[in-house]
Amino acid sequence: MLFTYTTDRMELKILNEEDAALTTEFYGRNREHFSPWEMDHPPEYFTAEYQRRTLAAESVQYLHSHAVRYYFFLSGYKLPLGTASFTHIELSPPSCACCRLGYRLDRDFTGHGYMTEALRFLIPKVFFFYRLHRMEANILPENANSLRLMERLGFMPEGTVRGFAPIGGKYRDHLRYSLLEGDIFPQQR
Ligand SMILES: CC(C)(COP(=O)(O)OP(=O)(O)OC[C@H]1O[C@@H](n2cnc3c(N)ncnc32)[C@H](O)[C@@H]1OP(=O)(O)O)[C@@H](O)C(=O)NCCC(=O)NCCS
Repeated sequence: MLFTYTTDRMELKILNEEDAALTTEFYGRNREHFSPWEMDHPPEYFTAEYQRRTLAAESVQYLHSHAVRYYFFLSGYKLPLGTASFTHIELSPPSCACCRLGYRLDRDFTGHGYMTEALRFLIPKVFFFYRLHRMEANILPENANSLRLMERLGFMPEGTVRGFAPIGGKYRDHLRYSLLEGDIFPQQR
């Protein structure tokens, strides 16, 4: 995967530890917007040092093909407007290669199709580059925006994952969605 891609409206970039000020501000300003939907974070998550260490760790994960995360940028804006991650990349056995998708948009940029645009671009690239068979996402049942996104992208519901992650201090059941290589590259069916 390349470090930077350009879509119709955005630049999608892999960041490194020198960009910690940007991600610290992005997660800080969206703390309340994201917190109902994602795993509880320790308080230090919102510090520049934690973000620097996270970006450094993500660079190593990228080099080892364990995970890759893109941040999205609009021209004229310094801060990212969103991010998408492809984590838990498992390449062995090759016939079952898979990964997990995660995504977030800044509170001021939802409802404009930015996430659909970024994921319609990135998902086929990630499938092709890592030769994946399957991609999955796990979503709280009440996260209507995220469930609509899954449907738009052609992900299929698979059922409930019990106690998937702690959110608001309680382990919460999630709905699992998946996309297979044959869903996006029909010749692979
Ligand atoms: C989940 C999340 C990324 C979805 O964001 P989103 O803005 O709804 O998704 P998109 O950016 O693809 O925008 C699609 C919406 O914009 C509308 N839209 C407006 N202009 C558009 C355009 N030019 N192109 C496409 N869609 C457009 C679409 O109709 C759609 O609205 P709808 O869902 O009401 O029909 C966002 O709500 C979020 O980050 N939430 C907080 C964190 C979170 O929940 N993360 C996921 C955990 S599983």
